[in-house]
Amino acid sequence: MPQSEKIPLQRPRKKEIENIRGLFSLLRLHPWAIPAIIGLGALSSLAEGFGISLFIPFLNGMEQPAFHPDTGIWLADTLAGLFNHVAPAHRLMVIAWFIFGAILLKALLSFSTTALFAWLDMHAAHRLRSCLFNRILRVEYGFIEASPSGKLYNTLATETWRTRDALETLVDLIISLCMIVVYTALLLLISWKLTVLVIIFMSMISGLVRVLNRYVKNLSSKLTHTNALFYKRMVQALEGMKVVRAFGREPYEQNRFNKASEGISRLVMKLTLAASLVNPVYEILAGGLLVYVLFTALRTPAGLTALLVFIFILYRLQPKIKELDEQCIKLSSLSASVADVMSLLDRAAIHPSSPSSGNVPVQDLKKGIHLHHVSFYYPNSKRPALRDVSISIEQARATALVGPSGGGKSTLIKLVLRLYDPTEGEILVDDRPLRQLDLALWRKQIAMVSQDVYLFDATVRENIAYGRLDADPDEIVEAARQADAHGFISQLPDGYDTQIGERGVRLSGGQQQRIAMARAFLRKPQILILDEPTSVLDTISESLIQDAIQSLRQECTVLIVAHRLSTIQQADHIVVLEQGRVCEQGDLRQLLAAGGLFAKLYELQFPKNTA
Ligand SMILES: Nc1ncnc2c1ncn2[C@@H]1O[C@H](COP(=O)(O)OP(=O)(O)OP(=O)(O)O)[C@@H](O)[C@H]1O
Ligand SMILES: [Mg+2]
Repeated sequence: MPQSEKIPLQRPRKKEIENIRGLFSLLRLHPWAIPAIIGLGALSSLAEGFGISLFIPFLNGMEQPAFHPDTGIWLADTLAGLFNHVAPAHRLMVIAWFIFGAILLKALLSFSTTALFAWLDMHAAHRLRSCLFNRILRVEYGFIEASPSGKLYNTLATETWRTRDALETLVDLIISLCMIVVYTALLLLISWKLTVLVIIFMSMISGLVRVLNRYVKNLSSKLTHTNALFYKRMVQALEGMKVVRAFGREPYEQNRFNKASEGISRLVMKLTLAASLVNPVYEILAGGLLVYVLFTALRTPAGLTALLVFIFILYRLQPKIKELDEQCIKLSSLSASVADVMSLLDRAAIHPSSPSSGNVPVQDLKKGIHLHHVSFYYPNSKRPALRDVSISIEQARATALVGPSGGGKSTLIKLVLRLYDPTEGEILVDDRPLRQLDLALWRKQIAMVSQDVYLFDATVRENIAYGRLDADPDEIVEAARQADAHGFISQLPDGYDTQIGERGVRLSGGQQQRIAMARAFLRKPQILILDEPTSVLDTISESLIQDAIQSLRQECTVLIVAHRLSTIQQADHIVVLEQGRVCEQGDLRQLLAAGGLFAKLYELQFPKNTA
């Protein structure tokens, strides 16, 4: 068996087989697919087998026109019996047509199998990608935050293709298996004794070749290791040449280098010999088997033609066995990708949308949002990000969250958005647990400008309209004005239709922030959440935006996070978070009077004001 050296010579292990089982779940929507592929595969091998077997009566007919179906071989006699009633003059021609018919049928069936797979591929692969994307959009947010960067891209972009390859390999493997079963059955029908012998002999050859291959593989991994050592010696000697010379260590280095180099040469020789042994060993053994079968054929002249056909089928069978082996190895190498894709699918299947939505419809906020002894641990984190937080975010008021970095401000916002649920305690919206509310409707009430603004690679207009897809152009301009973005947008090359992002103009941090604000304002939210919106804005914009917030505050509830305390001058309520705890809360005057952490922070930023 001329095994390719490039393919890892390992059959799938138990875990890999489990992973591959996941592939069947991809075909769940088409439960008929696997039986259909098996059916087509079996039928096309049967057609080919039938065609090949027809050579028995054909050759027999050429040899003895009397055509006595009594060779003692069941298959040969049965096939000959089929043509008994055909006039001897036409018999060979009829059989030849049948052989041609079998070839035609086999070709048609092969095409149907390919077409069926192409169809399945189109549907299954598309569904797989679409399902995965859907899962990523809905899987619990902690999973997204915990995924190493690039991991999800890789799963979606690369692993889905590899999974599709695995599916194709699985289908090929099923077809190969069908062929092997049908051919083996034919061999058994021609001569079961010889077939058993062949199977035993082939397994022995296969085992021997495998042992040889394992030896070759061990040698090549040793070679990799020795190569690395050789490289290390070389680099060290070259880089440390000054030390080598200064200490007079040339002979020592030469000696070490020679040893490593000799090691490589010896291994390469062994490897070449062992690798080139595999093919001859296989060919000698397979040749021996062939000679043995031929001798057997000569000893039973009645079945000579049948045995010739036996050898022919054997000849066809061998590559199929090799293909099966390669397909197993390929599946094994793709199994990690299948597992990766399946784990994401399963994960989201367990948490279809975590946190899951309640079903209470959301009404206009009347009182406000109340956090009741809320503690929160990020998944896999032992330190709480929030501890026993009890605060009220009152309706139509501006509540500000301040405090040192890492205090838990952004985390608190994530809980209000229900990207996460509290580990302990509860969030109440107008006295109703947030968990019970319809999640989509709840988020619809909220507009948020986050710490890390994200603009899509699209036009300014599209980016603002993301806040409300059905907004008309006037509303978009109005929102931009509110966010003090209209001025600079009008000066862009194509105004609102300017492409931004990688393919278009690059905007400054402050300009991006303002577009994000416009997007939030356009939503006309009940609750506006701003996570440090003013940190990168210039002073003029800052005050304009403060005015906007001020005016919005009449209509909606504002929750604002700020490091720069100028933004919260007019906040109705200020909450100071430090290490996840609320250490102070009250209005500006109260907090300054208290002389605690807030007063200190305030003094740092406005030394004159406090003087
Ligand atoms: N996705 C996460 N997974 C695990 N821990 C996190 C995650 N995000 C934040 N944390 C941790 O939670 C704590 C609170 O973080 P948070 O982002 O809420 O702070 P913050 O008050 O917004 O800080 P900053 O002012 O710097 O934005 C920090 O100790 C942080 O390390
Ligand atoms: Mg933050």
